[in-house]
Amino acid sequence: MVIRSFLIACFFIFIGANGLTAQNDYIGAAKCKMCHNKPSTGAQYSQWQETKHASAMESLKGDEKNDPKCLKCHSTYYGDDEMLMATIKPEEGVSCESCHGAGSGYKSNSVMKDQAKSIERGLIIPDETLCKKCHNEESPHYKGFNYEEYLKKISHPIPAS
Ligand code: HEC
Ligand code: HEC
Ligand code: HEC
Ligand code: HEC
Repeated sequence: MVIRSFLIACFFIFIGANGLTAQNDYIGAAKCKMCHNKPSTGAQYSQWQETKHASAMESLKGDEKNDPKCLKCHSTYYGDDEMLMATIKPEEGVSCESCHGAGSGYKSNSVMKDQAKSIERGLIIPDETLCKKCHNEESPHYKGFNYEEYLKKISHPIPAS
């Protein structure tokens, strides 16, 4: 009986760790680049590199680079639980996964080709509310936030075929 309850408990812990409550790990922009840098499908990686998000760590000077108060908005790495940081680097600033969600669960080609499946595995299709997690008055350099205008400056669409 004891062994059986133990096994049942293990089963639920297993489900808990791998099922609905599973949290994905952050894999870093270099991994997304492997599939998202072809000009014919929009070269999202290069597009992102040209935005201020990719250089957000360079805006922090001296001690600011270690200040959690600044890092939480200027670096994907410091924006979530450090236990979830797999192959991502702190220097990459505000990268893909700050907006699209941690990628370990949806990064495979077969999942990514299916939008519904990707979302089920943690892909986020970002909206205005998500941007405002960082674009708000808590930012010492807040310049206001017009979603349509700001979106244009960072857009990286898949070209219509
Ligand atoms: C193994 C290849 C591969 C990797 C790695 C990969 N993707 Fe994708 N991704 C795809 C494919 C294929 C599509 C579907 C493109 C299409 O519909 O033309 C896609 C689609 C997407 C979409 C559009 C979803 C939609 O339907 O609107 C987003 C956003 C996205 N990927 C983000 C990412 C991010 C962020 C990463 C890194 C964490 C990543 N991808 C890693 C292959 C990949
Ligand atoms: C994780 C935090 C975070 C999220 C989420 C975020 N941003 Fe940003 N954004 C920043 C930071 C930090 C900067 C400033 C980077 C720098 O200059 O050092 C910035 C800068 C920008 C800029 C450049 C502004 C300028 O002064 O030229 C645009 C445009 C922008 N973001 C658009 C967006 C949009 C649109 C979204 C949502 C789809 C978004 N951002 C989501 C943190 C974020
Ligand atoms: C709540 C999120 C948030 C926090 C916290 C934050 N920033 Fe930012 N920071 C931003 C965003 C978003 C921008 C882009 C400015 C804009 O368009 O509003 C930005 C822009 C900047 C810029 C560029 C200034 C410019 O004129 O474009 C510098 C420098 C900067 N931040 C430094 C810091 C420092 C230093 C700290 C810590 C004391 C900090 N930030 C904390 C979100 C944040
Ligand atoms: C500041 C937030 C932000 C960052 C950083 C970001 N994206 Fe996006 N991404 C968006 C938004 C917003 C959309 C448009 C969603 C929509 O169609 O409504 C989008 C759309 C996409 C699409 C689908 C385009 C289409 O036409 O369907 C792909 C693919 C994608 N992003 C990949 C990436 C990759 C790869 C990176 C990193 C190299 C990245 N994104 C970084 C916010 C971001």
